[in-house]
Amino acid sequence: MSPGQMSENSESKKQAGQVAIVIGATSRIAVSLIERLTDDAGLSKIIAISRQFSDKAESGLNHKLCRFQSDYSEESISKICEQLRSDKAEISRVFICNGILHDAQLQPEKRIEDIKAENLHKVFEVNAVIPMLWIKHLKDVLAKEQGCVVTVFSARIGSIEDNRRGGWYSYRASKSALNMLLKTAAIEYERTHKATKFLIFHPGTTDTPLSKPFQKYVSQNKLFEPEFVAEQLLALIAAGRLDKSIQFLAWDGADIPW
Ligand SMILES: NC(=O)c1ccc[n+]([C@@H]2O[C@H](COP(=O)([O-])OP(=O)(O)OC[C@H]3O[C@@H](n4cnc5c(N)ncnc54)[C@H](OP(=O)(O)O)[C@@H]3O)[C@@H](O)[C@H]2O)c1
Repeated sequence: MSPGQMSENSESKKQAGQVAIVIGATSRIAVSLIERLTDDAGLSKIIAISRQFSDKAESGLNHKLCRFQSDYSEESISKICEQLRSDKAEISRVFICNGILHDAQLQPEKRIEDIKAENLHKVFEVNAVIPMLWIKHLKDVLAKEQGCVVTVFSARIGSIEDNRRGGWYSYRASKSALNMLLKTAAIEYERTHKATKFLIFHPGTTDTPLSKPFQKYVSQNKLFEPEFVAEQLLALIAAGRLDKSIQFLAWDGADIPW
């Protein structure tokens, strides 16, 4: 569905209840999250956003699920947020799932000699810049008084204190940068959006395309299924433990040092 097509149904949506947004919606963990969110009777609409959706109207089989295509340019992010704002969507959950560790051109660096400027730029763009553009534009979309939990997928490897093994420069540093950007944004949001809580989430090593090439040395009981991670995350949010403006938590609810 394109942003323009959303207004037609906005009246019915306004009456129907709360909305969840899932960005980076083809991530394996995001797909599991969306399945569970569509079963949540408290949510009237799930807005899924991905590079990989077609830009034609696509409501899928489930009318509760509404798909938006985005190339994650600031123009596209701003247009979608403008539409959400004019629809007065009551957003109570946001999940930003985007993340890159490797692709056909880049691999995580084992040593300092492997660092390439273009790889650093790309990984920072996907892991830190794109999530922050959403946080920037969502500020005008999220209601000031309504409680909303904004979950952004980071990684324990982005913890500066926890860095004992080195390596994976771009991924590690981009997630640290993401954490700092979010911490800074949370301070600003707290001034106007007191009911918005940020969760920086570490899913644990999860069986997805992102971790696939690196699963060899992970013991089976430490390699999670996306379905398990999605359930853990939703349980963490439902438990109401997110009482600070921002927390950096793992899949089991444990605090991660910054
Ligand atoms: N799997 C793990 O073991 C693990 C561990 C720690 C943290 N994480 C984090 O968990 C999150 C979800 O990852 P996943 O494991 O579910 O990975 P995945 O299935 O490989 O999904 C990749 C995600 O990144 C987005 N993405 C990939 N390349 C992109 C690009 N060039 N531009 C913009 N977006 C791009 C995709 O969005 P589209 O839908 O738009 O394609 C999708 O949301 C990531 O932030 C990851 O860093 C994963």
